[in-house]
Amino acid sequence: MTVQVREGIYWVGVIDWSLREFHGYLTDKGTTYNSYLVLDEKVVLFDTVKSEYFPIFVENIKEIIDPREIDLIVINHVEMDHSGALPKLMEIVKPEKIICSPKGKEHLIKHFHREDWPYEVVKSGDQLSIGKRTIKFLETRMLHWPDSMFSLLVEDRVLVSQDAFGQHYATSGRFDDEVDEAELMRQAKKYYANILLPYSGLVSKLIEDVEKVGLEFDLIVPDHGVIWRKDPNKIIESYKKWSAQEKEEKVVIVYDTMWHSTELLAQGISKGLEDEGVNYLLMNLRFNHRSEVITEILEAKAILVGSSTINNYILPTVSDFLAYLKGLKPKGLKGAAFGSYGWSGEAVKVIEKELEAMGVNLISEGLKVNFVPSEEEMKRAREFGRRIGKAVKS
Ligand code: FEO
Repeated sequence: MTVQVREGIYWVGVIDWSLREFHGYLTDKGTTYNSYLVLDEKVVLFDTVKSEYFPIFVENIKEIIDPREIDLIVINHVEMDHSGALPKLMEIVKPEKIICSPKGKEHLIKHFHREDWPYEVVKSGDQLSIGKRTIKFLETRMLHWPDSMFSLLVEDRVLVSQDAFGQHYATSGRFDDEVDEAELMRQAKKYYANILLPYSGLVSKLIEDVEKVGLEFDLIVPDHGVIWRKDPNKIIESYKKWSAQEKEEKVVIVYDTMWHSTELLAQGISKGLEDEGVNYLLMNLRFNHRSEVITEILEAKAILVGSSTINNYILPTVSDFLAYLKGLKPKGLKGAAFGSYGWSGEAVKVIEKELEAMGVNLISEGLKVNFVPSEEEMKRAREFGRRIGKAVKS
């Protein structure tokens, strides 16, 4: 099914209702691969879809035009969820040009090994007239790949933003005003936390630059999820806040536990946070996916990471989580470690070392308890929680 985004501009993407894993990210609501077709004197296609969805994609294009009428294909981003269908499409479409950034050309050749395709490289500020419309290109290197770029349909004030402002959110609604707003913002935030967080400095700078030149958009059409139509500024304002890594008085207690002793400590710590009136969440890594935990951490002032000691190290779930968190390079986080142990008790030190290596400011010595916490040790856990609560409020 296709959807008219506005006169002469169509969504011709596909909905992937079943996707649940996107290199480490739990896509609990599936996703969409968006592609947009613009009919003007030149017919322009923006991005494609995952290769296995090629048949549906082509059927969608055929609802609007004969695919052979496509004159130009713009590849805003080479990652295969958007370029995967390109080789099959090129068997039936003979476009005058495939338009991409300098890195886009390099990446397309590295992916599909076709030096003979009609690449046209564009740089930031380049413009192209396609009839009554102008397309303006803006390279957005490392947002989130070196090749990434935005395309602006100038007269329509439509920003084709590739992954930026997207959400992994499969829904029959194509626009922000057709879906549940709370779920939409949850998915947009999750997307930011798990994909764009490491590039937050670049996101802030990009938004500043866009505001400096006074650009405003009627529509933001991303490559995943729904189109921002009702209030495109809402997602821009959210990106400003997330990229500034603005924090709330909130602590995420993330842990795994062998025989519930580390979990008991987490409960004791949470009482201390309650004493201080600080908002918190307990997230056991056996039941909370790493991508959900990161989403909660995005706006939290502190994380407390707990693990039992096993084989002189930490539990595998905690190790996995710390590796994922480290790669996402969170900024401005406070933290501390805790855990129960049987005989050697290395877990707290291991966690502290990992947190320090990723720039987390340790605000307390770790909390270590031998085997099952006693009443006295549960009081220590509560004290530990109070200490963290005070540090978070300061
Ligand atoms: Fe949706 Fe970076 O690909």
